Amino acid sequence: MKKILFINGPNLNMLGIREKSIYGDATLKEIERSVTEKAHELGVVADFMQTNHEGEIIDKIHTSRGVYDVIVINPGAYTHYSIAIRDAIKAVEIPAIEIHLSNIHAREEFRSKSVIAPVCKGQISGFGKYSYILGLYAAVELMKEVLA
Ligand code: DQA
Repeated sequence: MKKILFINGPNLNMLGIREKSIYGDATLKEIERSVTEKAHELGVVADFMQTNHEGEIIDKIHTSRGVYDVIVINPGAYTHYSIAIRDAIKAVEIPAIEIHLSNIHAREEFRSKSVIAPVCKGQISGFGKYSYILGLYAAVELMKEVLA
């Protein structure tokens, strides 16, 4: 079965508590549960990790080689400045999709720049918790195209 890894960066463990007017009130666990259900319906496996540490994201991307078919990543604030995460995605050559709960283009100017997006197939931003479901759909379509 095809496998998709969802990576969540810093502060996403605080979903449900953190700035609810921007990020909604669903917890990360609740979002993961809905993605798992949808993945099951679609006949793929979805795994999840969350960390507040940049190096752990990089290590996980490296060890994903040969294990995961697609990476769906919400890098949190690292989106805007982590060249190291960008380089890791580029290095492993696993197709990646960037996702955000909020519309990063409609917020502070510093959020509108993603250093990760250029090494991803594309970016999904602004659909709240549904960005994760859209990320799953995009991953499934990508696997049909790229990995068929
Ligand atoms: C975020 C947007 C980032 O700018 C922010 O730092 C986050 C969450 C989002 O999902 O909307 O932590 O990635």
